[in-house]
Amino acid sequence: MSPFSARTDVARTWNPLARALAERRARGLPLLDLTETNPTHVGLPAPGPAPLAHPDALRYAPEPLGLLSAREAVADYLSGRGAPVLPEHLLLTASTSEAYGWLFKLLCEPGDSVLVPAPCYPLFESLARLEGVHLRHYRLSSAQGFGLDLEALAAARDERTRAVLVVNPGNPTGHFLHEGELEALGAWCAREGLSLVSDEVFSDFAWTEAPGRVRTVAGRALPMPTFCLSGLSKVAGLPGLKLAWMHVGGPEAARHEALARLEPLADTYLPVNVPVQVSLRDWLAGAPRFQAAVLERVRANRRALREVRPSDASWSVVPAEGGWSAVLRIPLEPGEEATCLALLDAGVVAHPGYFYDFVGGAYLVLSLLPPPDTFTAALGPLVRVLGGGA
Ligand SMILES: Cc1ncc(COP(=O)(O)O)c(C=O)c1O
Repeated sequence: MSPFSARTDVARTWNPLARALAERRARGLPLLDLTETNPTHVGLPAPGPAPLAHPDALRYAPEPLGLLSAREAVADYLSGRGAPVLPEHLLLTASTSEAYGWLFKLLCEPGDSVLVPAPCYPLFESLARLEGVHLRHYRLSSAQGFGLDLEALAAARDERTRAVLVVNPGNPTGHFLHEGELEALGAWCAREGLSLVSDEVFSDFAWTEAPGRVRTVAGRALPMPTFCLSGLSKVAGLPGLKLAWMHVGGPEAARHEALARLEPLADTYLPVNVPVQVSLRDWLAGAPRFQAAVLERVRANRRALREVRPSDASWSVVPAEGGWSAVLRIPLEPGEEATCLALLDAGVVAHPGYFYDFVGGAYLVLSLLPPPDTFTAALGPLVRVLGGGA
């Protein structure tokens, strides 16, 4: 019998694409990486080190929900973006991923399930498994622009489902939740007794203004317990600082109880370091500059991608509203993996749709964050491999 738990038994085999990429790297061949989404690797503006020199940085103050001054800074940031929230309804974690782990502990018994979108960035599988929670996928249909479909939610739910996870806007699909969708979702969650977890790490990255888009569910009067997540990782491009936040909303009694339970849970781990908390207002002050640079970069790369597409191409750029990625719909033959391997041969790294659980077609996912010279240099090989006319 293994001395280790089944929860930690993760497949360690390499897929053919990862193997081919490692071989190419080992041979020192050039690569244009269109899967790079690390904001600290792509020449975007970063704040100076000054905030780390705060006089209180080394004074340890164990506050389970996070230092009040830091939660006030987050409340002001969210309020400035149209979400009036109170610091006492916020809780800090080291990352959004950690917040998911805490929410699974808060909302689920081992063996319970949560509803997660598909396609989606592959984030939830291991977070849920480590908490003994099952995932049930609800499909986002390409025919509906990867928007929320209540019928798909209802079909995915089982008697042990405790919560719905929504990624707003979707990663990598870039669809924002719309007011009508949120209203229907709220009524359904309330009727079914489910909580809502809204992942809004990309919600500051809308490419255009459009009426009826939900930027955040924080500060809304919603009829079910609501947990809204974001953090410095995407908002300010600082994943290494390890600070994220959760806003707890919904009916007052449920909110009160959720926070009362989250506090001892947070006290058990106390993961957020003090230096980043005492200077959080300064880090957040740099967010608009970072976001403006990302939006300029992402818009320019997406425009370049659309411009190189031959008008009779058998592939297309899937419409989207925000985020850091582009999704391409490609022909079913030769398919996602063969296309990615051919791209790799041509020196370009791209992700196949199946990494993100796309079905009902063949897809590629490209990061729009790489520097424009890298991105545009990759477009020639991309067009050659994907081909022109149908
Ligand atoms: C939709 C989404 N949520 C959360 C995360 C994780 O963010 P964090 O760095 O705060 O754990 C990611 C990471 O890319 C993501 O794509």
